[in-house]
Amino acid sequence: MKKTRIIIATLFALTGAVQAQDAGQINVICSVQAEWCNLMQTVYSRTTGVKVNMSLKGSGEALAQLIAERANPKTDVWFGGTGDPHLQAAEQDLTLEYKSASLPQLHAWAQQQAAQSKFRTVGIYSGPLGFGYNPELLAKKKLPVPKTWSDLLKPEYKGEIQVANPASSGTAYTMVATLVQLMGEDKAFDYMKKLHRNISQYTRSGTAPIKAVARGETSVSISFVHDGPGEKMQGFPVETITPSDGTGAEIGSMSLIKGARNLEAAKKFYEWALTASAQEMGAAAKQFQLPSNKSAKVDPRVPDFKKIKFIDYDYAKYGSSAERRRLIGRWEKDVNSLPR
Ligand code: F6P
Repeated sequence: MKKTRIIIATLFALTGAVQAQDAGQINVICSVQAEWCNLMQTVYSRTTGVKVNMSLKGSGEALAQLIAERANPKTDVWFGGTGDPHLQAAEQDLTLEYKSASLPQLHAWAQQQAAQSKFRTVGIYSGPLGFGYNPELLAKKKLPVPKTWSDLLKPEYKGEIQVANPASSGTAYTMVATLVQLMGEDKAFDYMKKLHRNISQYTRSGTAPIKAVARGETSVSISFVHDGPGEKMQGFPVETITPSDGTGAEIGSMSLIKGARNLEAAKKFYEWALTASAQEMGAAAKQFQLPSNKSAKVDPRVPDFKKIKFIDYDYAKYGSSAERRRLIGRWEKDVNSLPR
């Protein structure tokens, strides 16, 4: 608690902001983990006087809410979550074109995400997909650490693996899209059918499986590897690895909502969220994605992208509504409907 207060005080100093009174409000859907959402809410409200109403939603759920609110939007900004549903929101005219003057300060992948959406979204962080595992549980069960995608199909992992459901989770959709690009579509679906036998549970949220690994409820998860260190810092036995045969990465994104009731205030929050000091709040909240602002300090616990074998992920194709709908539909029909 004391540590959090020190972090907040330091961040106030870093942003150089002063407290203001009654400066309006904004409604934000936040699709990163609660600690980061809460820290941003506290710091931004205290430093600007703007009331930030935060609602926490996974990437797929956030998109579903924006579609449902289309005629009468209640959200001003959507912060975080995987990039694919942000690209779909852009395609479906749910988000607003906005070109920040800070774009040149961002990494090329974040600018590319903006350009691809015709400036209706922007990259705020990136992170690789991989596996989480509980070394104590694996040792107890005499199971090896999985190193490749095909390792996860071994019969000894039956009931030992958790991953989220791609309909609600951007993490799990990133897995589906990664496998399709890595193996070709039919082979990827054959793979996911076999993997299904080893899955104990498809969770709603993308971060639930690595939390289950950390707490000893399951041995292995398919997760973004930046979600591991925060669990470890809480004292849980959890490690991460990226598959040596190649993997994908997310471009966590942020969008302004078309028809936002508090547009001017929303734009100010958006600009602030692109600054280096605001992005450093991720690590302060024990979240270790790579920040998109080139000047943001990179915490040593952020995965080292240079050591990971990445596929050439086609963000435009796999972020299109038709492709996402089709792949999730096929996953429901060909994979999720099978007995285990
Ligand atoms: O907040 C952690 C995180 O892994 C983000 O990096 C990512 O954008 C988000 O969760 C995805 O959550 P979900 O899979 O629930 O949509």
